[in-house]
Amino acid sequence: MEISAQFALNKKKTWESDLLTDRFNTHKPMDEIHPDAAVNIYVGWPALFEQIKYQSDFLGVKSCNILDFGCGAGNFCKQLHIMGHKVTGIDHSEALLEIARAHSPKEITFVNNSILDDKNALIHLENRMDVITSIHSFDWIEDTKSVVSTLSSFLKKDGIFLFTIFPKSHVRDSIKINDLFEDFDSAENPTKGFANFDGVKVPTFIREPSYYDEVFEGLGFEKLLEFYPPFPKSFFDRYKWHGSKKPEMLILGYKKN
Ligand SMILES: C[S@@+](CC[C@H](N)C(=O)[O-])C[C@H]1O[C@@H](n2cnc3c(N)ncnc32)[C@H](O)[C@@H]1O
Repeated sequence: MEISAQFALNKKKTWESDLLTDRFNTHKPMDEIHPDAAVNIYVGWPALFEQIKYQSDFLGVKSCNILDFGCGAGNFCKQLHIMGHKVTGIDHSEALLEIARAHSPKEITFVNNSILDDKNALIHLENRMDVITSIHSFDWIEDTKSVVSTLSSFLKKDGIFLFTIFPKSHVRDSIKINDLFEDFDSAENPTKGFANFDGVKVPTFIREPSYYDEVFEGLGFEKLLEFYPPFPKSFFDRYKWHGSKKPEMLILGYKKN
C-alpha cells in the first residue's frame, strides 16, 4: 500500500482515547474536571514545570522547544506556551486534538501521529527539542521501546525527557480495592491488563523504573529523576476520589548525552 494511503487509513482509525474526550478534557472550570485528569494538574504538572524551569536555567534561555507526546486535550501544552515556551503536541486521537486546537493559541503546533505507524512524517523534528514530556501515555503503549527511541531522536544533546507512568504499587493497591484496573496477569506483580474507564477498556502496561533505565541508558541517556509525588490535601478537599491513595504517578527523567 502507498504510504499516503496507509496514512489516510490511520487517520480514520478510532482509538480508545477518542471515546474519553470528556474525561480527559481539562479546559473546563476546575470543579468540573474529572478527578482522573485533575490528578495530572495537581500532582504531575507542578513537578514537570519545576524540572522544565531547571532545564531553561541550565540552558540559560527563557524559552525551550518542548514536545508533549500523548498531549490529549492539550492544556499542559497551553500552560507551557503561556510560560513562554515553543510547544508541539502529538497525539493519535483527532477527537482530542480538535479540543486542543479549539482551546489553544495557534502558535502551538498539534500533530496527529501515533509515532508507531508514521514516524517518517516527524523527521523534521529530529534534533530540535530541549525537552520532551509525556503524561500517562506510555502506560497505554506496548512497544514503548520504539516510541522512546523515535522520540529521543527529536532531542538535542543535553535535552531532557520527562514522563509520568503509573507506579506498580498504585496499580497493585487499585486492583485490591477494585478501582480502575482489571484483568491483570497478576494482582501482586501486575504488568499487563486493562484500565476500565466506565466501560471503555484500555490495554495497560505497567513497568518498573529499571525497564526505562535500561532503555534510556541504551540510547545514551543518563538518569535525572525518579519521583513519586504524593497527592496534596487540596486535591482530596476538592474532588471525590475513590481510588488508591498511593502515589498515582511515577515521574522519570533522563538527560541526553
Ligand atoms: C491518559 S491520556 C493522557 C493525555 C494527556 N497527556 C493528559 O495528561 O491529559 C493518554 C494519551 O496518550 C495518547 N496516546 C496513546 N498512545 C499513543 C500513540 N501511540 N501515539 C500518540 N498518542 C498516543 C492517547 O490518545 C491519549 O490522549
